[in-house]
Amino acid sequence: RYLQENEPSQEDKDLISSLPTEKGWIGNSLHKYQGFWQATAHMQGVLACQKHFRALESDIILVTTPKSGTTWLMAILFALVKRAHYLDLRRHPLLTENPHVLVPCLELDVYTDKQVLPDLSSLAPPRLFSTHLPYVSLPDSVKHSGCKVVYLSRDPKDAFVSLWHFVNKLRPVGSGTMSLHEAFDKFCRGVSSFGPFWDHVLGFWNESLKRPESAFFIKFEEMKQEPALQLRRLAEFLGCPFSPEEETHGIVDGILRLCSFDNLSNLVVNKSGKLPAGMENSAFFRKGEVGDSTNYLTTEMVKKLDSITQEKLYGSGLKF
Ligand code: A3P
Repeated sequence: RYLQENEPSQEDKDLISSLPTEKGWIGNSLHKYQGFWQATAHMQGVLACQKHFRALESDIILVTTPKSGTTWLMAILFALVKRAHYLDLRRHPLLTENPHVLVPCLELDVYTDKQVLPDLSSLAPPRLFSTHLPYVSLPDSVKHSGCKVVYLSRDPKDAFVSLWHFVNKLRPVGSGTMSLHEAFDKFCRGVSSFGPFWDHVLGFWNESLKRPESAFFIKFEEMKQEPALQLRRLAEFLGCPFSPEEETHGIVDGILRLCSFDNLSNLVVNKSGKLPAGMENSAFFRKGEVGDSTNYLTTEMVKKLDSITQEKLYGSGLKF
């Protein structure tokens, strides 16, 4: 999924070869497309979903910066908006399927092969998709259909450390581990898949200020701190608030327990299962905590990342 490459068309090859290119994190290349770095393996999916995806007003699109807690929010959104179909939480699809299967990623899972376009017409509304695409690269219909965008971000220090661990799990056997310093240098220069991190976040932060009815901005830290409150806010935003009966029956807590790190990470499917493209589901579960980066970053690294964040977000009203 992250390395698999379908043969790009000549047109795509020409485009890719015209883009600034840098060495990536997992022995691949990154190309700067519309201001953001895309892995070669993702380019076909990015271009295909930009061209072919038609969002419906009822769609819900989860957008994240990689390693912000996408897997968690996928689970929460699925459990939330499909709750009428799965009243018995002991028989819920999340117990047997990884969230990435239930909320497929537009550019990584849905539009993987430009020659074979997916038929999305039979999916029951609301359709749930995810994407790491930056705001500028979203398919036009996502911006104009009135569909709902939920954007999840995370403190860049924790997102970076999470990414570094993740990448080292994905690197091909024999290519060794990537040092924290090499990864840090690339991340700070913005050279990471779907980066620069800060530009990605700002694109959606600004959109959430301009169009709060369509774009909901939330941080991993807020979800961790007040999960029930945030889940109720999400339900309101998505037009499916919890009824007094549901509140009485403890549905909010039920969803949170179902989607908790402890529950999901201990399921057989997530301990030993794989995504259709071969990736281990367990790679998406590590610690799920706030502030773990302090166990890895030196004081200088923390200072440097904090100062980049301050400078980049200056005047936006957004803080981490
Ligand atoms: P850590 O590496 O800091 O533990 P993504 O899903 O965007 O790839 O993000 C992965 C991060 O989210 C990892 O962070 C992972 O452990 C954490 N995570 C996964 N499932 C979670 C859950 N149910 N609750 C909280 N955090 C979770």
